[in-house]
Amino acid sequence: MMDDTNHWVFGYGSLIYKVDFPYLQREVASIRGWERRFWQGSHDHRGTPEAPGRVLTIIPSPDRECLGMAYLVEHEVFEHLDYREKNGYERREIGIRMRDSGDQVEGLVYFAARDNPAWMGPAPIARIARHIERSHGPSGSNRDYLFDLAKALRALGADDPHVFELERALRIVLEQTSGGL
Ligand code: SIN
Repeated sequence: MMDDTNHWVFGYGSLIYKVDFPYLQREVASIRGWERRFWQGSHDHRGTPEAPGRVLTIIPSPDRECLGMAYLVEHEVFEHLDYREKNGYERREIGIRMRDSGDQVEGLVYFAARDNPAWMGPAPIARIARHIERSHGPSGSNRDYLFDLAKALRALGADDPHVFELERALRIVLEQTSGGL
């Protein structure tokens, strides 16, 4: 149901801190009933087809609220965003709540479903941290994806046990492998 008007897009991962697209408006916002997970493979940004990295998707979680950033964009921007998010993500409609105004809008989110070819799924936190530590791709290191995300979430005041636990686990792995950051 896309037309040529403007659309709200909700970012929960790299779309929060890597804004390489024009937007008309930006608001801290949340989606209710979802939470972040590093369960999606990355063949094209933070890994390669031979050695995929691990990046975010969202999973349904009835009691949680996922804080992120909403952008109002012109229709043309989807050409860029669809290309950027092509590795297993699909656009899906979602209700977005703006933090400051409390306004609710209908928008879109890039969602990686379980049946997509790059899906990796759950694993113990320590194993995900080791995977992230060794992964790199054309957009940079997988560890920077996690560290930049954690920094951005902290700045927003987000409560995200999965991300912050993973950040701590990655720091431990880095201390063990290279004598620290
Ligand atoms: C998003 O940021 O909303 C989608 C996942 C990503 O690109 O990290």
